[in-house]
Formats: sequence, C-alpha cells, structure tokens
Amino acid sequence: KKIAVVMGGPSAEREVSLNTGRAILAALQEKGYNAIGIDLAPRHFVDQLKKEKIDLVFNAIHGLYGEDGLIQGTLEMLGIPYTGSGVLASAVAMDKAVTKRLFTAAGIPTPRSRLYNKHDAGRDLASEILLEFGMPVVVKSAAQGSSIGVVIVEEPANIEFAVKEAFKYSDHIVVEEFIKGKELTISILGTDQPEALPIIEIVPESGRYDYSSKYTKGATEYIVPARLEAEVASYVQQVALEAYKLLNCRGIGRVDVMLDSNNKPYVLEVNTIPGMTATSLVPKAAAAVGISFADLCERILLMTAE
Ligand code: DAL
Ligand code: MG
Repeated sequence: KKIAVVMGGPSAEREVSLNTGRAILAALQEKGYNAIGIDLAPRHFVDQLKKEKIDLVFNAIHGLYGEDGLIQGTLEMLGIPYTGSGVLASAVAMDKAVTKRLFTAAGIPTPRSRLYNKHDAGRDLASEILLEFGMPVVVKSAAQGSSIGVVIVEEPANIEFAVKEAFKYSDHIVVEEFIKGKELTISILGTDQPEALPIIEIVPESGRYDYSSKYTKGATEYIVPARLEAEVASYVQQVALEAYKLLNCRGIGRVDVMLDSNNKPYVLEVNTIPGMTATSLVPKAAAAVGISFADLCERILLMTAE
C-alpha cells in the first residue's frame, strides 16, 4: 500500500503542518511503510494522488482544507481512506463558534461566550464586549489554530484591535470570558472506544501560550501528568472524552481545557489534527505511557482501517 502524508497547504499554519508532516513521514518510513510526502496544492491534489497511485492518506494538514472537512470530503468521493476524523467532525471542530453551541447544548462546560459574525462588525462591539465581559476577555477567530487570530485583551482600549485581528482570519468570531487557572490538554486515541492519555499541564514561561510559546523550544514547560488530584484528573479526562465523542471524532484528537481555581474544567475546543512537531503535545502524552512517536503514528495509521 502506498501512503501519502499530506502536509503544508496554504493555511496560516502551513509551517507547523510541514513540521508535523515531515516528522510523521520519517516515522512511517522508519517503520518500513511505503510513504511519500505531498505538499497540498488544492487544485492539483486529486491529480497528485492519482499520479502517485496513493492508496491511503495520512492527513497532516492543520487548518484550512485539511482540518475542516474539505480534504476528507474529497477523499470520500475518491474512495481513498484517510487518518483521523470524518467530514462532519472535522468541519465542526475547526469552527470554535459551532463547537461552542454544541458544547452548550450538550452540557459540556465551556467558557461563557458570545458569537459575532460579519453582520455585527459595523456595530460598536468594543463597548458591548466591555459591558458584558469586563477585562480580561478573550477574542478568537472562529476557524484558526495555533492561537493565530486569538488575543487576550487586558485593556479596554485594545478590544477594537483584537476584534479586527480575529475578523482577519474568519468571518465570524468568538468572544469568551477569560478563565484564570491551569491550562491543560488531553490527548485522545481511538474511535469506537476512545481513551484519554495522561493530562498535560502547560506552563508557558511568558505567561501566555501563544504561537511563539507553542513552537519555540524551551519556551514552555510541560508537566505530564498534570499536578492534579486523582479525582480531578479523572473527571477532566472524562469531560474531554465526552467532548471528543460528542463531535464524533475518529482516531486521534486533542481537547484543550482550562481548569479554574475551584477545579472546574472548561473545554475550549477539540483539535482533530493536533500538532505532531518536536514541541507538540500529543507525542508527549503518548511518551508518558510508553508509546514512541513512531508507534503513535503507526497506531493512527492502523485506526484508519478499523
Ligand atoms: N493547531 C495545532 C497544530 C495543534 O492543535 O496542535
Ligand atoms: Mg486549535
């Protein structure tokens, strides 16, 4: 079987995806798989797959086209199996606004929020946001990853900038209350019986887990397992699993959670194509239970055929 690790593409997370994809490609080759890398060129993608006679796609694209259901839909039409979540789960998880509505409907705890779309952009959103949330407040583009288009606003004067920044990356945005507490992430493996790996506690040196804290080596301390009481940890894992199952995710995912000082978890989002770079989280959680990076990639691959 010939496998294509599809990576890169035109999204804002292109560089991250290239790092994720190259690491996966090397791991699969090390395991003896017949695998090549393809840098996604959306208009030529189908031709690329045909020309290389690809039997299976290992999807390593973050964001646009790869994490949002579009590649998944294309591959469904071509009858080519692929790793990870299907069309609907991908499309929903990529959209923080839709995800939040589903969390709320299903009773999954998530920070209080308001959603705005481009029709609201003409109003004085800064005043509305300040009145409703006070400071600090988090303003997020609805459909980006790696904290791109996310601003934590601490001064009222900066709300307008944050809103503009968020609208730069999508036509709708999420404004949510800032949860002060521990930043946690829960990696999940599996499809029919998904399992949560040990929780990672994220401690960025700068105090902000932004793009540079995410991808600069040494900029963030990762504590695995997180420093939590056993009951708290297992509750957080259970909530994360609920979020993963609610969206009908497959194979692999990572659920980002804030834990407030009363140990109440708030689910921020589900990532269906979590980063697999040298500084990424899922490989760290897997390593904590003795799963090597190459084994992790192989597991994700084998779950495709489940
Ligand atoms: N969006 C980044 C790659 C992540 O979820 O790890
Ligand atoms: Mg994300």
